[in-house]
Amino acid sequence: MSDLTFNKIAGGVLATGLAIFLLKEVTTELFIQEPPEKPGYSIAVVEAVSPGGGPAAPEVPPDWGTILPTADVAAGQTVSAKCASCHQFDPAGTNGTGPGLFGVVGRKTAGHPGYMYSQAMVDEAAKSPVWTYDALFEYLKNPQKVVPGTKMSFVGLPKAEDRIAIIAYLHTLGSTLPIPAPKPAAPAAEAPDADDAAAPAAEAAPPAKG
Ligand code: HEC
Repeated sequence: MSDLTFNKIAGGVLATGLAIFLLKEVTTELFIQEPPEKPGYSIAVVEAVSPGGGPAAPEVPPDWGTILPTADVAAGQTVSAKCASCHQFDPAGTNGTGPGLFGVVGRKTAGHPGYMYSQAMVDEAAKSPVWTYDALFEYLKNPQKVVPGTKMSFVGLPKAEDRIAIIAYLHTLGSTLPIPAPKPAAPAAEAPDADDAAAPAAEAAPPAKG
């Protein structure tokens, strides 16, 4: 290859490189866009805020006085099959892997005789001394989250309806907690008299959803 040919080739390569470089510069210049000072349109973003104020807001337990009398006890018995590998439901309160569950509604937390509870459950009893409907509802959703360190290795019942059903079933097994009176449906109205009837105040509170 003669020197001249080499020079031509080298020149060509250089020119091409330069061309590519310039082209890149020009295109970026062309396509850089400044945001407009005033947007032509704006999109309103409404953030979904849960009623409790954040995603970690605890689930509101149902109104037991309303829901228990008509709850599906048979469905609860079906759900109890998920507990049966560890729990017995007989009136003698036989303990297995887990404590006997007959009479657990209204029973002291970690209070079944003859059962060796975890330290976590014993500690829980200091905070939540009795298995109320609400306590069961919360615990059974996610046992390990509610009582970290519990030796109940069960994932939990994420569906509220399953928990309501099992609690209704447990309530038929020697429960010592009476069913509470139903909560009044709408706490809005005070003394219903003629003046109030005209006021729109009654619509202020939305009905509690169950
Ligand atoms: C894999 C075994 C297992 C399964 C399945 C299981 N549990 Fe448990 N459960 C346990 C153990 C173990 C304990 C004791 C927990 C501790 O001491 O930390 C317990 C404790 C409990 C307690 C507290 C009782 C007390 O006396 O304080 C309740 C209530 C309970 N379980 C309900 C249920 C229900 C209802 C189901 C079914 C939906 C269920 N468990 C499924 C093992 C299980």
